[in-house]
Amino acid sequence: MNSDINMGQLFNEELSKEIKEKFYHVDFDPIYNTERLFFDNAGGALRLKSANDMFKKIDELPDCPEHSNRTALWLAEVQEKAMEDLKIIYNVKSGSFLTSLTASMVMFDMARAIIENIPGTNVVTTALEHPSSYDSVCSYAQRQGKEIRVAEANPVTGGVDVENIIKLVDENTCVLNVIYASNMSGAVLDIETIVKEARIKKPDLYIICDAVQHMPHDAVDLQKTPVDAMNFAPYKFFGPRGIGVGYMSERAAKLPHNKLIAKSEGEWELGSPAPAHFAAITEIVNYVCWIGGKFNVSDDRRELYVEGMKRINLHERALMYRMLNGTEKVEGLRKIEDVSVYLDYEDLSTRDFIMAIGFENLDYSQAVVEYEKEGVIVFERVLSSLYSVRMLNTLKIGGAVRISPLHCHTEKDIDKFLVATKKLASLGLAAVADN
Ligand SMILES: Cc1ncc(COP(=O)(O)O)c(C=O)c1O
Repeated sequence: MNSDINMGQLFNEELSKEIKEKFYHVDFDPIYNTERLFFDNAGGALRLKSANDMFKKIDELPDCPEHSNRTALWLAEVQEKAMEDLKIIYNVKSGSFLTSLTASMVMFDMARAIIENIPGTNVVTTALEHPSSYDSVCSYAQRQGKEIRVAEANPVTGGVDVENIIKLVDENTCVLNVIYASNMSGAVLDIETIVKEARIKKPDLYIICDAVQHMPHDAVDLQKTPVDAMNFAPYKFFGPRGIGVGYMSERAAKLPHNKLIAKSEGEWELGSPAPAHFAAITEIVNYVCWIGGKFNVSDDRRELYVEGMKRINLHERALMYRMLNGTEKVEGLRKIEDVSVYLDYEDLSTRDFIMAIGFENLDYSQAVVEYEKEGVIVFERVLSSLYSVRMLNTLKIGGAVRISPLHCHTEKDIDKFLVATKKLASLGLAAVADN
């Protein structure tokens, strides 16, 4: 491993190639038949072939997993296996899982159960939250007449300082809601310390965590960060769209919520979710364990999963390092004239691979259009968007072009992106010269 923690560790060429082949459409847009670099994975990640193929295979079956014919029983086993795999992902032995159409719907359900039922006169959240958690927590708090306390972000790290959150928590806090990693800056919050310190102030504090952006970049571990609710979105984690997943601790799962009366108190599933989605989750875990198995021999699925996510994280860090610093042949983002890297915190071990940049002479939306002309798909975060404005304000930036590659990308992909970026910067300069 590189001695400089910032440099991460690339997969070797052979593994990188194998990984790329396991994903659909990494280099190509099959609708317009053009080459492209898909660097908008924070919006929806490239799809793992095995997850989507398995989804299709299972979804072709009409059988009801609650019935007793052979194939139905097999589907029930598929679902049970996925429940075990969710325990692997979260590293939990107890608690309940819930699913809905989106991670946002899951978040609203989890926030509601806690805020409507747990005493306390205030709720604590951060300004860096996605609207799904911020708005759910604030709406239910308002309905209950609870004070809303908001921790501002740190514009240097791109995250939220532990102290900023903890100072807002007291014995009257009903719930603390905190994002794991920002979908704007990629900053990973120190959830372990936040949970520990918040529970020093209030030992039985309920804590909600949105792990949607962190889950595809590193392993979470609820043994170390025992929160009461945590969600993720399989479609941002190499799987299909159409499901959001949440974990509820044992005590949170028992709080009053929508459920069929005859079901047990910790049951959150309503109706018949598609077994295909569960099968896809198992394929995601299989895939991460397959990477883990390249570096570690173990019979323990969680151990392989953690190793796989660690390797994904290290590879992405190495790509991030290259994107920022470039090479002798290609200038990195930090060096390209007229390009600014926002929230460019030096310690890359605290950042998931999501980057916010801006051009001196191109506005964010224009830059996204120009990138697409160069075959690069990225996304703009602008003040006019309800999905961005609060985060941009707390991070003290006026907007950003968000760049979010995935571990199936390679150094070559990063270099192509840097060449395109340099061209965009010169386009901006040329436009200024023409005026
Ligand atoms: C951090 C974060 N949380 C929650 C969500 C909501 O996910 P979904 O669209 O599945 O509701 C997103 C989506 O972009 C996100 O980035």
